[in-house]
Amino acid sequence: MKLGCCYYPEHWPETDWDNNAAHMREMGLELVRIGEFAWSRMEPQQGQYDWDWLDRAIESLAKGGLKIILGTPTATPPKWLVDSMPDMIAIDEKGNPRKFGSRRQYCFSHMPYRQECARITQIMAMRYGNHDAIMGWQTDNEYGCHDTVLSYSVAAASRFRDWLSNKYDKISALNAAWGNVFWSMEYQSFDAIDLPYLTVTEANPAHVLDYRRFASDEVVSFNKIQTEIIKKYSPDRIIMHNFMGFYTDFDHHKVGADLDIATWDSYPLGFLEMFPFSDEEKEKFARQGHPDIAAFHHDLYRGCSNKWGVMEQQPGPVNWAHHNPAPLDGMVRLWTIEAMAHEADFCSYFRWRQIPFAQEQMHAGLLRPDGVEAQGALEARQAAADIAALRETATLHETATNQNAQNPKAQTIALHFSYEAQWLFETQPQGQSFQYLWLVFEHYSALRRMGLNIDIVSQDDDLEGYAMVIIPSMPIINDDFIAKVKALNVPVMFGPRSGSKTKDFSIPDNLAPGPLQQLIDVKVTRVESMREGLHHFGTSRHGDDFRIDHWIEHVVGTAEVVEQCHNGTAILSRHNNIYYCSAWPDDALLHNMLMDLLKLTDLKPIILPQELRIRRKDGFHYIFNYGCKMIDLGNIHGPWQGGNYIIGQENLASAQIAVIAAD
Ligand code: GAL
Repeated sequence: MKLGCCYYPEHWPETDWDNNAAHMREMGLELVRIGEFAWSRMEPQQGQYDWDWLDRAIESLAKGGLKIILGTPTATPPKWLVDSMPDMIAIDEKGNPRKFGSRRQYCFSHMPYRQECARITQIMAMRYGNHDAIMGWQTDNEYGCHDTVLSYSVAAASRFRDWLSNKYDKISALNAAWGNVFWSMEYQSFDAIDLPYLTVTEANPAHVLDYRRFASDEVVSFNKIQTEIIKKYSPDRIIMHNFMGFYTDFDHHKVGADLDIATWDSYPLGFLEMFPFSDEEKEKFARQGHPDIAAFHHDLYRGCSNKWGVMEQQPGPVNWAHHNPAPLDGMVRLWTIEAMAHEADFCSYFRWRQIPFAQEQMHAGLLRPDGVEAQGALEARQAAADIAALRETATLHETATNQNAQNPKAQTIALHFSYEAQWLFETQPQGQSFQYLWLVFEHYSALRRMGLNIDIVSQDDDLEGYAMVIIPSMPIINDDFIAKVKALNVPVMFGPRSGSKTKDFSIPDNLAPGPLQQLIDVKVTRVESMREGLHHFGTSRHGDDFRIDHWIEHVVGTAEVVEQCHNGTAILSRHNNIYYCSAWPDDALLHNMLMDLLKLTDLKPIILPQELRIRRKDGFHYIFNYGCKMIDLGNIHGPWQGGNYIIGQENLASAQIAVIAAD
């Protein structure tokens, strides 16, 4: 794994550039990302280009020995461009324009803006695409940041109608699929259909889900315009985009299919603060981030393209969360090496130097605004030294590496995640607390607490060869997926609301779990969502009490009941290797159910302390202490015992890491 940083030559005097480049190299950085917000400097007036400064910046960084990732500047269209086509502005769900003065104000569906993006991308690719120092490209910047995927503009409405007409061909087919007879919502033609916003009460969920699918496809086709131009004019360069954390408004698997490397922007402290973690977790991990935030996204985005990397790594306090604490000393290094443990290609810090002006002046960089190294820089240096040490050891232990690489999939759990499922449950939650992403995250966390390696997979991935397959919920199940699961002989667990909808957002004729009934005889006859304070209780086979919150289903059928509530309601049913969990399990029950399933595999789960995480890669055990106290690794019955500590020691201090060579 290489290290890098995000750098904005246009923010700093040219006289600094050479020194900055030399400083980066001396710190151990090898990559630098530039350019993604600099359109107003590249083209100050329509058609009047100024490339001289960028030519010189690229030369300066190249001369300094850095490889460059060049960003296309399309996330920040300049004022002259917006003024020349005011209808390119996205419209929010209240009908308000998203005005100029920050960034990402464009609508993905605006065709003349797409042409402008193609134009600037082509000019850049032709000018810099074959430069030796340009190793790759970043398209745009964080699609969807600041809630910008959904737009209710005239342009979006027009392209949505075309999308619908392609999908349904006849308006009668659309009316039938959506069930428009309900409330007299039938349309006579595709032209009559509007975007689903500003309706009196909720819009038809089938209408909303199609709009969400369309909006996601718009991001995919917008991105593809740039990737095709870059491939043509800048051959053999890596194409990337930087995804975000806990962000689901478009299908990252589909965008990732057009990339060489899926990258993401990792801000563990900001994400902990801004997403629905418990108060206890927010307090406990305020300066470290919840131990599964970064890893969850590493494992998700690894599955979105051929390779993956961290394009922006938090180097200190950020500026955008409700509160912005400083990471514990050691965390920036820990996050960096954890990315390596999850097979990142590179990790690049955001940003090189804290900027003293404009929106992000309170966001830390590796350097302070006065140019002096901040804590993040010290830790980047340490991470660079760790990587060098590991590289050396890996060469020495090549045999160990090869042995372990034999069949990593057989040692790994496949955890399914679907963007479409997220849109569906957002459209029809049926209970405020049914939040699909958190259901998936809780399964991920439970498995990670057992020290297991996890691949987060999509329904199109090959599931053959995994030790176990967990599908927290899959509301729409297609026949291909059923066939795929049928061919597996490892434990497969489906969660609540699986198979509960058809592709057209209706209840299946045979009721939930729909087509899954081909594999296990359970039928859902009634569902309940529960407010806070309303629960069902039970005692698991292990004798532990559990409590069901959020969601429970009443099922009938011939499948064996493995876990149930005190009142006899089945919670976990089984037929052969297929399990159906018909409730949102609490932590203890989820743990017990997963432990039981793991007994049917060759894996050896360990119970890790709440603050400790591990990952196995290439014969090394990477161990991370996310807690505030020292942890004695000697007291934990882990497979690393007796191994050789390459980094760290048995008494693992807070925010520290250990890397141990062991089979
Ligand atoms: C990212 C974005 C960067 C910067 C950063 C601040 O979301 O890509 O441009 O704004 O956040 O943390």
